[in-house]
Amino acid sequence: MPREQGGICAEGNLHGIYLMFNASEGAESTLPRVIAGLAAWLQTSADRNADCAFNGFVAIGANYWDSLYPQGRPAELAPFPSFEAEDRSAPSQPVDLFVHIRSDRLDVNHIAATEVCRRLAGLAELVEEVRSFRYLDARDLTGFVDGTENPTGAHRREVALVGAEDAAFAGGSYIHTQRYVHNMPLWERQSLKTQEDTIGRTKVENVEYPSAAKPGFAHIKRVNLKYEDGTSMELLRQSMPYGNMQEQGLFFIACCKTPLHFTAQLKSMIHGDGEHYDHLLKFTQAVSGAAYFAPSIDFMEQAAG
Ligand code: HEM
Repeated sequence: MPREQGGICAEGNLHGIYLMFNASEGAESTLPRVIAGLAAWLQTSADRNADCAFNGFVAIGANYWDSLYPQGRPAELAPFPSFEAEDRSAPSQPVDLFVHIRSDRLDVNHIAATEVCRRLAGLAELVEEVRSFRYLDARDLTGFVDGTENPTGAHRREVALVGAEDAAFAGGSYIHTQRYVHNMPLWERQSLKTQEDTIGRTKVENVEYPSAAKPGFAHIKRVNLKYEDGTSMELLRQSMPYGNMQEQGLFFIACCKTPLHFTAQLKSMIHGDGEHYDHLLKFTQAVSGAAYFAPSIDFMEQAAG
């Protein structure tokens, strides 16, 4: 199996920095080499900063892939699936490059982000930066633990990484991101019962509702989807809260061996099952959405020539 980028399946951290870049015109002749160097540098930094669990990955936007790597495209790489129904929407805002940096130290992340920007200077323009943080015991700002049902141990790699089904891109991962802005005053006015019904779990103890008690509009009801043969459509979620006193929310990140799971879940949240949509969307709004592929280290090295 080709070597994957360490940040894709990494365990949670205390701090994250997400850098979104658009490539400059003509940069595609130089960028494959710079990106391979960047990914290698992130791996070396992970070894050097193991004490703060540093990790990272670089992902290429679905709309930019063919310009950067005209020699071949991951089988299922598609633009971000934007959906809209009534006042619910998942907008798409394509970006060429996504650099995901995380560790348990803000200063180490800041140094890494500075180095990423230095390496990409003149080749790509930084269009957005988001700094995320762990909130309490890995909760979203709504107060609910986020990530409980994430795959664990070796299963994380099975869920997140492309395998032999697309051999040229094995070890890579389909990445979807969405920046959600929460309406915190509205959320905080809801009763505990309404909040818990909205998620489908209890808030403090983080216990899943029994199936029969789970409303059709509960978030986990809408996203817990299965194939016809009964296997679950799993995602490895690497989301973290972000924000300041003006705007707060969740930077949602999904890593998966196929883009189908995210697409089906997002559709189920927004369009629902004909009767119920995801009521979490009453309290939060996605303001951006992008689809990427994070190739293996080997793919990037080969493409760099
Ligand atoms: C579960 C929060 C968006 C997919 C959860 C849970 C919380 C949560 C609190 C329950 C604990 C857990 O298992 O992690 C949020 C918030 C979101 C958001 C605050 C946005 C503001 C999304 C989106 C997707 C998604 C956009 C996919 C399209 C999932 C999945 C689960 C989950 C697959 C596990 C369900 C299960 O198997 O029980 N989310 N989520 N979430 N969420 Fe979200």
